[in-house]
Amino acid sequence: MKVILASNKAAGDQAAFNVFQQVIENGAKVLGLATGSTPEGLYKLLRESDLDFSAMTSVNLDEYVGIAPDNPQSYHYFMQKHLFDAKPFAHSYLPNGLADDPDAEVKRYDQVVADHPVDLQLLGIGRDGHIGFNEPGSPFDGGTHRVKLTQSTIEANSRFFASEDDVPKEAYTMGIGTILKSKEILLMAYGDKKAAAVQKMIEGPVTTDVAASALKKAANVVVILDPAAAAKLQPSSITERI
Ligand code: PGA
Repeated sequence: MKVILASNKAAGDQAAFNVFQQVIENGAKVLGLATGSTPEGLYKLLRESDLDFSAMTSVNLDEYVGIAPDNPQSYHYFMQKHLFDAKPFAHSYLPNGLADDPDAEVKRYDQVVADHPVDLQLLGIGRDGHIGFNEPGSPFDGGTHRVKLTQSTIEANSRFFASEDDVPKEAYTMGIGTILKSKEILLMAYGDKKAAAVQKMIEGPVTTDVAASALKKAANVVVILDPAAAAKLQPSSITERI
């Protein structure tokens, strides 16, 4: 795990952009994408760049259950707004939050990811250490599944909704096993609310109590942090400072 400490968020966004640019130059065909506040600066750099995704495929980590793709709170909508409207891919896949048959939807999405092996998977991290919506206790070999969100995640995501009651209580998410199949993984974390989860991921034991600790089992992982997110780390845990 390569841990890059950026002097600020803008430097972190630029470092993340550079990782994307490099894998695309190296022939990546499939990008695994994420939603949330953390990647917004990276998506802005990608929108404003001359990178061309029109021959590439994207697969997203997760989607809320019960929300239509054109609902502004859906992850479909987020991706359209932050990336796809400006930079369309040949094919973009997300779980279907309105699927009638959740079991069939889970199987369909696992097949999508199997058919499009991810070259670079972008991740954020939850305050409880989740990656995608793999909350504490998720098995490390799991595929796509339907999850109940933890109270911590519902509270964290309530900032995007009128009230906490409006936050969907369930989501579809790629599993940790799915994520670990990516050739390369880029995890970004900014802000002091992520510091404890980042410290557990990097310096703590590999345990299903901290979903992100599974990334220690993956070969090519880059973590980009700002000083607030890195505040609880030992200096020796930092690979590079930019
Ligand atoms: P955030 O979410 O980028 O909005 O902080 C990250 C996550 O919960 O995985």
